[in-house]
Order: sequence, then structure tokens, then C-alpha cells
Amino acid sequence: MAREVTHEEREPTAIDPDDHDGDIYICQCGLSDDKPFCDGAHTVTADEEDVVYKYENDDSDQPRQPVDG
Ligand code: FES
Repeated sequence: MAREVTHEEREPTAIDPDDHDGDIYICQCGLSDDKPFCDGAHTVTADEEDVVYKYENDDSDQPRQPVDG
């Protein structure tokens, strides 16, 4: 079974689970190769416009195509 998930966020969310080791950044864009952690891949979404994109193989290094919503 397969499913597609749409991510609207373009930045990670920061959490500080133990209040003394600093923030951990959690991926919200869906493109990180190190999920659940942000690896900086979200930077490719900076120029996205108000349409839905499909990233080939869910990989930020691959081409993206706009898709009809
Ligand atoms: S928020 Fe997904 S890689 Fe940074």
C-alpha cells in the first residue's frame, strides 16, 4: 500500500526536550534524509509558489514538478 503526504511547512520546528542541551530541529518539510531531524533540505522550498509540488523520489536533490491539487 502506498500513500502520499502533503507538507506545507518550509522550516523545521525547534524542541528542547531536556531544557539544558539546546534545541533539536524536527523536519516539517518532509524532505530530510535524516528524519525526524532537519538536515537543511528545506532550503530548496524557499522559492515554492502557491501550488503543490511533487519532488521526484521525495528527494530534495531531484527535480520537482507542480501538480494539480
Ligand atoms: S524542515 Fe525538513 S529538512 Fe529542514
